[in-house]
Amino acid sequence: MIRYSNPPILLRDVFEDTSEVVRLLERNAPYTPLGGWYRPDAELDQATSPMWFQNDWVHADLRIEGSELFLFHERVTQAARDFYDAKVIVPHSVYVNLMAALERCGPAHTDNPRFQGRDRSNTPMWLLRTMLWSGLFDRYAISQATSIWWMNDVEGGGLTYWADGPDAPPHEHIGDMANTALVGDNHGMFHQVGPVGPFDQGTRLVTPRAELAPVADSDGEWAVTDRGEVRYQAPLDQYRVSVLWKADVYRDEAEQLQQLADVLSLAEVANVFDRDLAERGADFRFDLDRVEDPGLIADVTAVYPEAVPVGKARSIFDAA
Ligand SMILES: [Fe+2]
Repeated sequence: MIRYSNPPILLRDVFEDTSEVVRLLERNAPYTPLGGWYRPDAELDQATSPMWFQNDWVHADLRIEGSELFLFHERVTQAARDFYDAKVIVPHSVYVNLMAALERCGPAHTDNPRFQGRDRSNTPMWLLRTMLWSGLFDRYAISQATSIWWMNDVEGGGLTYWADGPDAPPHEHIGDMANTALVGDNHGMFHQVGPVGPFDQGTRLVTPRAELAPVADSDGEWAVTDRGEVRYQAPLDQYRVSVLWKADVYRDEAEQLQQLADVLSLAEVANVFDRDLAERGADFRFDLDRVEDPGLIADVTAVYPEAVPVGKARSIFDAA
């Protein structure tokens, strides 16, 4: 079954001078509301998006100028080596979140897993997650380290994390978060973003077309503009700014070579599930032609349910 990770490592004073990060943020504006799999059917002209903005700075096909500041951060990389007792750390993703005025939490979740030859580019998200929770593909799992770095202290904005597994009460990193980072296993450890102030008007909603960017000729002010109108404005240090870093982790070069060579096909994935479903006496089999079929998804995920962490708070994406 799934193995839960050790508690993350907390780093302080991660950057000597955070003004470089501010310039990086400014150069890469504007930022757009979080889309993705939590809200795939958001209507473009309806104000249904919280002010949770995100941009990618590094992924497989992208590396913005200046992102090396995060991508190759020496202490973060060393913390990942220490956390996993591993020699090879291959950073591959950096992205940034900017948030304001979220009265409720983000969703409690684990980050999406990757397996040898199978990731979001070629495998549906639900299937990757079910592969993880089934425990049937552990030998193909690619360990991934995550660092979350916070730029500033805002009203609220803490991170709840289940360092002792989903069945034990969570820990919280809140207050004195500026320039700290948590380095650990967000793929094996549930975590949840706390409410973010200001709280005077509840969760302020914008449309998916909204943009967050610096205000020209101002002293560090940033504004959310939605279809031509400014909906919110505050100094940058009143937005909750966090930068996430992810890296593949290999115990050593031999393990890296072996993992990269030994890739899983979808047919193998289906076979592994089928063998297990047969052993369990299930009355259905994994049908690759129905991999997007809600009926098959419901059947399979019912056999291999995700854990639900104790004490998780209601999320902005839960039904009201
Ligand atoms: Fe996450």
